[in-house]
Amino acid sequence: MTHPEHVPAKRVSDSRVTLSQLMQPHHASYLGFVHGGEIMRLIDEVGALACMRHARRPVVTVAVDQIFFNEPIRIGDLVILTAEVSYVGRTSMEVEVQVVAENPLTGERRHTNTAYLVYVALDEHGRPTPVPRLVLETEDQRRRFREAEERQRLRLQRRGQRRVTPLEGEEGG
Ligand SMILES: CC(C)(COP(=O)(O)OP(=O)(O)OC[C@H]1O[C@@H](n2cnc3c(N)ncnc32)[C@H](O)[C@@H]1OP(=O)(O)O)[C@@H](O)C(=O)NCCC(=O)NCCS
Repeated sequence: MTHPEHVPAKRVSDSRVTLSQLMQPHHASYLGFVHGGEIMRLIDEVGALACMRHARRPVVTVAVDQIFFNEPIRIGDLVILTAEVSYVGRTSMEVEVQVVAENPLTGERRHTNTAYLVYVALDEHGRPTPVPRLVLETEDQRRRFREAEERQRLRLQRRGQRRVTPLEGEEGG
């Protein structure tokens, strides 16, 4: 059974999360811009929150698609991350995270990243557990769902082909 009857379907807006964080000196890399790892941490945090709100279960990250850093984020910028569940499978959920950097003094806003991540909901034994279906209310949501479905198909195809080999010089295997 894919989605049990007793789990009501949920709308995209039911789990949407926005997280805002002022970038401070301790977020800086040695170049003075914000460390990419800090943005990646916030992306994972806001993505997990949206999925937890959708599933009302603990979730774990199983996949993070490539993230491009096309422009730097500066110390003093307000980083605004918005996460929306774009697709659900049986136990997995894809979330789309949009990252915007705002200069709070001028109001100038730059869209700096879009990231796609997949989370799995877990039951009390740490096993994957079914999540609510997603109610798609708009044509845009239906398009995003179709695109996410295709991304997920490709991820699972790549997972099937994956070979993990140790780095040269690494001990054991
Ligand atoms: C999450 C976990 C329990 C799933 O176990 P599993 O044996 O892969 O379980 P399944 O094969 O049933 O997969 C569960 C779901 O995840 C999806 N999934 C698994 N690997 C995936 C991947 N690489 N990319 C996308 N989706 C994936 C499956 O398609 C399935 O989705 P569905 O139920 O919607 O069809 C296991 O992979 C795990 O513990 N991973 C580590 C998670 C973690 O600790 N993350 C933080 C890293 S520090």
